[in-house]
Amino acid sequence: MGTAKLYVLFLYSLLLFSAVTAAELCNPDDKNVLLQIKQAFNNPYLLASWKSDTDCCTDWYQVECDSTTNRIISLTIFDGELSGQIPDVVGNLPYLQTLEFRHLSDVRGSIPTTVSQLSNLKLLRLSYLNLTGSIPPSLGNLTGLTFLELSSNDLTGAIPSTLSSLENLDAIHLDGNQLTGRIPDSFGFFNGKVPDLYLSGNSLTGPVPTTLGKLNFTTIDLSRNLLTGDASFLFGKNKALQQIDLSRNLFEFDFSKLDFPAGLTNLDVNHNKIYGSLPQDLTELNLQLLNVSYNNLCGMIPQGGKLQSFDQTSYFNNRCLCGSPLQACSK
Ligand SMILES: *[C@@H]1O[C@H](CO)[C@@H](O)[C@H](O)[C@H]1NC(C)=O
Ligand SMILES: *[C@@H]1O[C@H](CO)[C@@H](O)[C@H](O)[C@H]1NC(C)=O
Ligand SMILES: *[C@@H]1O[C@H](CO)[C@@H](O)[C@H](O)[C@H]1NC(C)=O
Ligand SMILES: *[C@@H]1O[C@H](CO)[C@@H](O)[C@H](O)[C@H]1NC(C)=O
Repeated sequence: MGTAKLYVLFLYSLLLFSAVTAAELCNPDDKNVLLQIKQAFNNPYLLASWKSDTDCCTDWYQVECDSTTNRIISLTIFDGELSGQIPDVVGNLPYLQTLEFRHLSDVRGSIPTTVSQLSNLKLLRLSYLNLTGSIPPSLGNLTGLTFLELSSNDLTGAIPSTLSSLENLDAIHLDGNQLTGRIPDSFGFFNGKVPDLYLSGNSLTGPVPTTLGKLNFTTIDLSRNLLTGDASFLFGKNKALQQIDLSRNLFEFDFSKLDFPAGLTNLDVNHNKIYGSLPQDLTELNLQLLNVSYNNLCGMIPQGGKLQSFDQTSYFNNRCLCGSPLQACSK
């Protein structure tokens, strides 16, 4: 072969080589943002696969690219050692549908308000972290969200009323924080879907807004707060309610006046100031869990249905409940 021919061959193979390397799918803007996130957490071992010379769509863990646009649609970092704050640049992944930081050792600081720019977001889970500060009201702009979980952090302040704008939510988990103030009135006006509501383990005060009685919730967990007054309007014959946990609050209402939805399976009201007696209708329910202990209830426990399948701890420490599985009523 002549030198010229060899040179052409060399050039050709160079071209071919660069064509192969140019086939990186990862969008350069997305890659840049992800590398900034990695840097914000001090290049942790957990994100070791995020390398500038590899393709984020094919070689990186914890992320997912859309198969047609090749834009990052999912960022899920969980179960591991990660130390630092979630950086504001996370808001610059405009195609993101799923964002999860969960069960990580040392993720602190506040929820970046830039998350509210992620208008394609469907699932947001920032849970089992050490996040502080309040919940950004602007999260209510993420109307495509079907799942919102901010559980088990150290979040403070009131629940933003704007969250009721999230009309596609299947569930909202704000449990295990230090949220204060009242449950917003707006939570009786989720237009669209009625989400499962998990607000337990906060420091919420005041009465439950009666507006919540208008909505057809399936699951309500308000346990372990400082809520007061009446909650009987959450019940009702024609409701979809299946699970309700009001335990460990300061609720005070007449239990004998409750109308139970036919599909109710879990009813926990332990540790409140509920009075009255247990209605006979309870025997018609297919209950899997019943706990009315530590209240001011009185009278005979109705006999039948599932009611005697629970042990005495479901009923004990009331004012004067009696009958199986507690002691017989005295005449
Ligand atoms: C961080 O959160 C975890 C559990 O969510 C908790 O066990 C740990 O004590 C927290 N760390 C600090 C410094 O608050
Ligand atoms: C997002 O929400 C905030 C506060 O709820 C509001 O002031 C702002 O106008 C909203 N932004 C957009 C782009 O809708
Ligand atoms: C609530 O939902 C149930 C079951 O989906 C339905 O049968 C009932 O009519 C609804 N009730 C109200 C008050 O909207
Ligand atoms: C009912 O609640 C009380 C108080 O928390 C608890 O001691 C008891 O074990 C519970 N019983 C059942 C069956 O859930």
